[in-house]
Amino acid sequence: MHNNRPPQVEVCYYAFLISLSTFWVLNIFGRGAFLFVRNGVGWKKDIQSRLGDNHENHFSARTPEEFAAYWQKLNPPVRPSNHMMEIYERFLRCYGFHENGDWGLLGCTPEVRSLADEYSRSLTCVDRSKLAYEAFRLLCHPPKDESFIESDWAEAECPDSFDLVLGDGSISMLLPERHVGFVQNLHSMIKPGGIALLRIQVRDGCQFESPEKLLNWFRKQEEQDSINTCTRGYLQILWADPETGTIFPDDFRERIEGLYAQGVLMESEYQDFKGQPMKLTVNFTTRRDFEGLVSPYFEILGVEEPNDFLSCEHYPIYALKKK
Ligand SMILES: C[S@@+](CC[C@H](N)C(=O)[O-])C[C@H]1O[C@@H](n2cnc3c(N)ncnc32)[C@H](O)[C@@H]1O
Repeated sequence: MHNNRPPQVEVCYYAFLISLSTFWVLNIFGRGAFLFVRNGVGWKKDIQSRLGDNHENHFSARTPEEFAAYWQKLNPPVRPSNHMMEIYERFLRCYGFHENGDWGLLGCTPEVRSLADEYSRSLTCVDRSKLAYEAFRLLCHPPKDESFIESDWAEAECPDSFDLVLGDGSISMLLPERHVGFVQNLHSMIKPGGIALLRIQVRDGCQFESPEKLLNWFRKQEEQDSINTCTRGYLQILWADPETGTIFPDDFRERIEGLYAQGVLMESEYQDFKGQPMKLTVNFTTRRDFEGLVSPYFEILGVEEPNDFLSCEHYPIYALKKK
């Protein structure tokens, strides 16, 4: 075919075609690369959250002493409060397990280990981390007859082994899709007639609608403790995934950064959050979901809320009898 375009027009025509195709090639490859990086990072984060933080050495301690030193600085609800310990004691006395029975503990909570010693009960701690078991020994007076099973709570094989099992915030360490496995295995560990005392974390009935309202309320309090300690539980509830109730440490940190960037958090408040960052992924259920979860396996004997720290109404203790 005869081409009668002048050479300048020809050059411009081809230059235009080349830049158009370059644009599309870059666009397609660029998008592919972007999606790959985004999904790759998301995937890694997901796996790390599922497999990493909560059952490995989440404080990056090198020795039991370092691990214990970190734990010692933590406040309720990460550690049980005094009133929580009173509730445990009242329940186990009420059902007669202070004088009788073998006790099991899901975790290595130092306060519970000392309690077992006070009542001279045998205690078996079940935890994935031997380091945690050894570290928390330094923070308590464990009973003489104490043993350890290194296992996941949903997989530990100890059928009909305990009359009483305590779990202080243990189920909240697991993503919701593992809760059924947790409850089924807990059921299998308990002897007929035995009970479980579980402290859980619930998000229903939160009295604050937004972080701003919470922070304004906190700033009006006459006696102010650390803002991090006082507001963290509520912030976790407000920021937990509305579907699953899960809040990851990275997401919590990003939200804090966001509040600081917007000027909602003052410098000193922001530094307080940075000083003791959230380390564990936690999962908030609702009272209704939890009761529905356990009811095929346990009769609910009672439930009590502690009253001795801010946000304590979100950490009830359930007494459950094996069905
Ligand atoms: C913040 S504590 C919470 C549990 C309990 N309050 C305690 O003091 O042990 C975290 C402990 O839970 C243990 N842990 C977390 N997920 C676990 C799982 N799926 N099975 C067994 N142990 C687990 C960790 O190893 C760590 O010792």
